[in-house]
Amino acid sequence: MLKMMGRLCFAHKTALAPMVRVGTLPMRLLALDYGADIVYCEELIDIKMAQCERVVNDVLETVDFVAPDERVMFRTCSKEKGRVVFQMGTADPERALVVAKLVENDVAAVDVNMGCPKEYSTKGGMGSALLSDPEKIEAILSTLVNGISKPVTCKIRILPTLEDTVNLVKRIEKTGVAAIAVHGRMKEERPRHPVHCDYIQAVAESVSIPVIANGGSSDIVKTFEDIEKFRAAAGASSVMLARAAMWNPSIFRQQGALSVEEVMEDYIRYAVRYDNNPFNTKYCLCQMLRDRVESPFGKRLHAAQTNEEICEVFGMTDFYNKTKAELEARKAALQTNGDQTETRILFTFTVFMLVSVFPRRDYPPQITPKMYLLEWSRKEKLDQPVYETEQRTQDRAFQSTVIIDNKKYRSALWEKSKKFAEQAAAIVCLRTLGLPEGRIGEEHSGLVNKRKRDDKKCAALDDSDLCRQPFI
Ligand SMILES: Cc1cc2nc3c(=O)[nH]c(=O)nc-3n(C[C@H](O)[C@H](O)[C@H](O)COP(=O)(O)O)c2cc1C
Repeated sequence: MLKMMGRLCFAHKTALAPMVRVGTLPMRLLALDYGADIVYCEELIDIKMAQCERVVNDVLETVDFVAPDERVMFRTCSKEKGRVVFQMGTADPERALVVAKLVENDVAAVDVNMGCPKEYSTKGGMGSALLSDPEKIEAILSTLVNGISKPVTCKIRILPTLEDTVNLVKRIEKTGVAAIAVHGRMKEERPRHPVHCDYIQAVAESVSIPVIANGGSSDIVKTFEDIEKFRAAAGASSVMLARAAMWNPSIFRQQGALSVEEVMEDYIRYAVRYDNNPFNTKYCLCQMLRDRVESPFGKRLHAAQTNEEICEVFGMTDFYNKTKAELEARKAALQTNGDQTETRILFTFTVFMLVSVFPRRDYPPQITPKMYLLEWSRKEKLDQPVYETEQRTQDRAFQSTVIIDNKKYRSALWEKSKKFAEQAAAIVCLRTLGLPEGRIGEEHSGLVNKRKRDDKKCAALDDSDLCRQPFI
């Protein structure tokens, strides 16, 4: 019961829909300010997210998930705490769990995209490709529901027949998801096709979890009042808006929408305050300009390359300078307080990775990843790796975490023995750090040849032995 307290509830809500490139932090905060109850982030692909590092950014007061190439894939802050849903693109239950665990404490819920009809999504078995694989849907959703403490939801498109659609959502409901968002179009249908409110209604009548109606922008929802009309027409508990909110997020305002000019200025304030990627800022502003994007003003906006230049176009240079000065002052204060001098302040984090059962036959006799990690820690003059292992009751399987250099590494999979669980954790660590693991045939694997440490040989090691391999 305690676990349920404070969980995001999806009934009787209005939500900002997930939108690639549009649903970044400034847009989400703006939608919340104007009255949205829940905001979805843009779809983020599991493989990319699994490589991210969670970084607390004390200057911006955000939590960032940063890719190995330093790109911020997902940025969130306390203003949206409890209301932001992390949408994931995935076709793999275990990988989905790895990512869900990574973001679990920073988001209110995790959603799986099962509606995207774009080839880049479907060819990997993600998005709407999942709709024809209900077993996979069940595996992904139940793994997430059982694996994380936050609510899990999914967003689907409708199937060609009403019966198939209803059967699918009934199966989905059984996985324990907290809600289901239904885009009332089939995967072949485009936004210009009318939304099938009758399908959404049939779904809403057939399940007891909240159904979130989606697909009403443009033909039904043009004003705040239309949101309720769409909800009623679809017989749903909640409504999710994509395009209508992308064009003017103040559609969520009960008192009526603001002018797009005013909204764009509000957007820019958040974009500067949270150091949003300028190309993303520009993209979102261009969506709001719509057909005025070709006007002289639109062309000036298009030419801007930085948030500072975007502010110039909007006559907001004073705001830009003031905000930047405040951020610089905060950064300087953090530095004088003896904190790290970097904007990115790292802290202990846990890396999860999928390392299946320790493949003993891939290693020479008496050589193990644990030995490789130990050798490396000695060479780097770090404390020896510490292993913590837990055993689960249902199948007595083991999962280990290795702690080294203040960071934790763990395989998301469970092993039959404690010994193998520790080896799996060591492999996760070695792979994350780009170090050799000792596998037969592996390049640069000649680090350890004997079980007993040969100190003389170790002392002779140079950096080439530990050369970084691409992150996998
Ligand atoms: C720019 C844009 C990006 C989108 N990206 C996503 C996405 O990342 N995940 C998703 O589930 N749907 C995505 N969609 C689909 C919307 O969430 C929504 O299902 C669709 O636009 C219908 O809702 P609407 O009529 O309110 O626009 C996107 C739509 C747009 C216009």
